[in-house]
Amino acid sequence: MAKARVAVMISGAGSNMAALLFASKREDCPYEIVLVASNNPDAPGLNIAAAEGIATFARSHKNMPREDHDALMHAALVDAKTDYVALAGYMRVLSDEFVNKWQDRMLNIHPSLLPKYKGLNTHQRAIDAGDSHGGASVHLVTPELDDGPVLGQIKVAILPSDNAAALESRVRYAEHQLYPHILAEYTGREHDADWLLQKADSLALALPQTHARPSHGSPGWRVGSEKTGKYFAHFSTQHHGSDAIGILVKTSGPDELETLCEEQPDIYWKPAYYGASGWIGLRLNRSGVDWDHVSEWLERSWRSVAPKSLTKLMDAADAF
Ligand code: GRF
Repeated sequence: MAKARVAVMISGAGSNMAALLFASKREDCPYEIVLVASNNPDAPGLNIAAAEGIATFARSHKNMPREDHDALMHAALVDAKTDYVALAGYMRVLSDEFVNKWQDRMLNIHPSLLPKYKGLNTHQRAIDAGDSHGGASVHLVTPELDDGPVLGQIKVAILPSDNAAALESRVRYAEHQLYPHILAEYTGREHDADWLLQKADSLALALPQTHARPSHGSPGWRVGSEKTGKYFAHFSTQHHGSDAIGILVKTSGPDELETLCEEQPDIYWKPAYYGASGWIGLRLNRSGVDWDHVSEWLERSWRSVAPKSLTKLMDAADAF
């Protein structure tokens, strides 16, 4: 299985980066670290990465507009063929443009139980508020600071004797447990048949008058009534020696099918049996699946078998 390519961005010690890196050395880890990038050429974490044979990139942000620095970092990530970015103590606010380029593909670790205590001084603020627990959160990065959907948290009890430094060092242990686990879970989803099926199911059932019905033991989706409905998509999990997990949808015929399979073999495959009648496989177990594209295929396939009365309604809705 191809591992997801992760770049870690740091500014300092890089202990979270090290936790991600050492976790990635296990064979069953679904991600690998391909780059450690920093806005601080003196970040100690860069040496840890280099010693482990990981490519590093450092460029100071000083005397440079934010957008220009972000563009340099982005170019380094693209050069390393990065699938996901893990921010780990990256102490620069990123431009919206940069954040949007990595939408749903950039995670951050923050030392508080979000949504509490965004920004800095999190431990002191938790102690001052008399909280029973501090902790750490991993979240997706959105343009608003420390605000994206939380993917996981670990709580850490606050002791009566705690000061910010003592709490911080205990929270750090929690961070090192949390981040590799959540990153593995998040990047591993793309190869997880159950997660892919769930995604495909929600897109297929978003089309009018559809229902799920297994066929030959595999999930499938039909349009029309329970009695007379017709299949417009099937789910295929590594059938007949293929390593692909994906959906089967209808093409216009053998010409289109053969051309797509030949031109984009990483996306399309010709499924056993179904291929003969014009069904094409759209591979979902790969990085960077464009789910809008998957939706478009489902709708097209749906249209090709849906009763005219339904497609007319859809046309009318599209015209608005
Ligand atoms: C961590 O506390 C992390 O939660 C925050 O910055 C710190 C980075 O520490 N975002 P390190 O460089 O990973 O040791």
